[in-house]
Amino acid sequence: MERSALATLMIALLFLTAASAAFAAPAYFPVDRTYYPYYPSLIKWEKTEAGFTEPEVCQGCHPQQYNEWTGSVHALAFQDPIYQGELNKGFKAVGHEVTRQCEGCHSPAGVVTGEIKGPGLKGLGRMALAGVSCDICHSISGVTHGQTPSHEPENGSFILAPGIDSKDGPKLIKRGPAKPSAECGGGFHECAESPLHTQADLCAGCHQVYHYESHFPLESTYLEWKHGPYAQKDIHCQDCHMVETDTFIRTADTFRKPERSEYRHYFSGANYLLYYLAGAAAKKAGDKDLAALLEKKYQMAVEKLKAAAEIEIHPVYRNGALAEVRVRVKNIRAGHNLPTSLTNVREMWLEVTAKDVGGNIVLFSGALDKSGSLAQNTRLFNSDGMGRDFHFAIDPWVVTAFSRHDTIPPRGYKDAWFGVLPVKKKGSVTVEARLLYRQADQKVAGKLLHAVPEDIDLEKTYGISAEVAVPIVEMTRTKASFTSKEK
Ligand code: HEC
Ligand code: HEC
Ligand code: HEC
Ligand code: HEC
Ligand code: HEC
Repeated sequence: MERSALATLMIALLFLTAASAAFAAPAYFPVDRTYYPYYPSLIKWEKTEAGFTEPEVCQGCHPQQYNEWTGSVHALAFQDPIYQGELNKGFKAVGHEVTRQCEGCHSPAGVVTGEIKGPGLKGLGRMALAGVSCDICHSISGVTHGQTPSHEPENGSFILAPGIDSKDGPKLIKRGPAKPSAECGGGFHECAESPLHTQADLCAGCHQVYHYESHFPLESTYLEWKHGPYAQKDIHCQDCHMVETDTFIRTADTFRKPERSEYRHYFSGANYLLYYLAGAAAKKAGDKDLAALLEKKYQMAVEKLKAAAEIEIHPVYRNGALAEVRVRVKNIRAGHNLPTSLTNVREMWLEVTAKDVGGNIVLFSGALDKSGSLAQNTRLFNSDGMGRDFHFAIDPWVVTAFSRHDTIPPRGYKDAWFGVLPVKKKGSVTVEARLLYRQADQKVAGKLLHAVPEDIDLEKTYGISAEVAVPIVEMTRTKASFTSKEK
């Protein structure tokens, strides 16, 4: 009797150890929280007495870089009202333990120092408000891309080291592309040559956004680039985004790297909406210089979009009659997919119209309805996000997969087919196609702007309401005529 009780106990113990072993089995994406103390942000900070420096201090000796960076998407990354609106929604839904991830990329210094406690701008110092500023990029001493849970760059996987402690006190070290001269730093900082600063890996930690827990790639700009022709030809992010428009076009067309003297701190991408909003705020504040700068940045973003794609129209005949048109959209100059990044929010679509000789419309696609949303059958190039089990979702803390992902790879193309109604009036059919772009659906933008934290007053600061019309940019257009009957 005693024996069997002992045996039962032993078996029970065995089960328990087996069960706890099952619980302790490593997750597919294990996280070392000692190595990554700010998880879900993967920034590492080499903390010393040498602190972060505000951009206005760098401005004193580097006025050109400062002027170029001012008003850039990086300078606006933290104060961006669209970002603050989404952050505020996230903070309410999942709390600061999760939204620290967002802040890690939109204002890294404010996260490692612990200054940022939640959404809003109130009470924050200049360094936190300055977002992705000089002393973020030029303090990056290395990356931990291989050590992350996904073994790819993600969620801020870089190391911040603004300086070192020495026996003469703290010393600032700034890293850049060149071998330092004797005068480098003007007595304010030391310099270090950093090949990392000429490579996409510098940008990668922030331009690969993963879900905080499931490590699903919500934004994949770096990997799209890495698996494409530009990476293979040694053309990096800097070579298109840190130069004037003409230089970017030359680089994309010839795969020739810019000269060292051609680099600029514009970081212009496709987000003209943010420049539009910031420009409205500058006008409202009566700052004419800043408004002019933002107008230039708005134009640069539009120029990038206009240079990115080309479209062609081809007829498709069936039983001798024009049945469809095939529109080919080519990504000719984006170093990554088109569109990239927030593909489940950005909208790029085809508007196609065909008319017979009598002016009768035999095809129309890509219309906006009264509320500013696209018709259901619009041919869109972007993604749909979903939470668990196929349900549509937009918020980055919910989206763990894409139910549809349809973007165009670098130097690649996608075809779209459009049915043509039977042509009554014999003769040629004229087809017009336009490729259009906007940052977000009108209702989605409205929702985010409605959610801005209380200390951001859209009316007072920007002179707009949350219903501000999202501008649409025409990236390219083309026209062609075909006979309605095959010859
Ligand atoms: C790994 C870095 C990273 C993390 C983490 C991150 N973001 Fe971003 N975020 C970016 C980058 C890069 C862009 C620009 C992409 C683009 O323009 O499409 C961006 C763009 C955005 C935009 C669009 C802004 C606009 O003006 O259109 C919003 C909104 C946003 N992020 C909110 C968030 C929120 C909320 C979180 C946290 C749940 C978050 N981000 C986490 C890097 C990050
Ligand atoms: C997003 C990252 C980033 C930010 C923000 C940034 N830089 Fe740079 N900076 C770079 C990179 C990358 C290079 C190297 C470009 C190249 O290949 O020449 C560079 C180059 C430089 C150089 C060398 C000369 C030149 O212009 O190429 C100086 C000086 C400099 N930056 C200062 C600044 C200052 C001052 C600020 C803030 C006003 C700033 N940077 C903001 C990434 C950044
Ligand atoms: C007291 C003046 C002074 C201040 C303040 C200053 N710098 Fe410099 N910095 C220099 C000088 C001088 C050089 C060497 C000449 C050059 O490359 O422009 C230099 C060089 C650099 C370089 C190396 C460029 C290369 O070619 O690799 C970087 C990066 C840099 N500074 C970043 C910064 C950042 C970021 C700040 C603010 C945190 C800053 N500097 C503040 C004077 C200064
Ligand atoms: C510390 C994180 C961080 C680093 C490092 C970083 N970025 Fe960004 N970048 C962002 C965030 C965040 C945004 C979006 C801000 C927003 O829209 O509110 C952004 C936006 C951009 C945009 C504008 C996109 C648009 O929609 O117009 C470009 C272009 C860009 N980054 C290029 C670069 C390049 C090139 C590098 C490397 C030299 C780099 N970034 C490094 C965080 C970073
Ligand atoms: C060959 C030139 C080229 C290279 C290389 C390149 N880009 Fe771009 N990028 C573009 C063009 C053109 C656009 C505008 C069209 C678009 O949105 O894709 C763009 C757009 C963007 C946007 C804006 C997305 C949005 O939603 O507003 C971001 C962010 C960006 N690039 C980041 C990067 C990063 C990070 C790298 C390096 C990993 C990189 N780019 C490499 C040409 C380039």
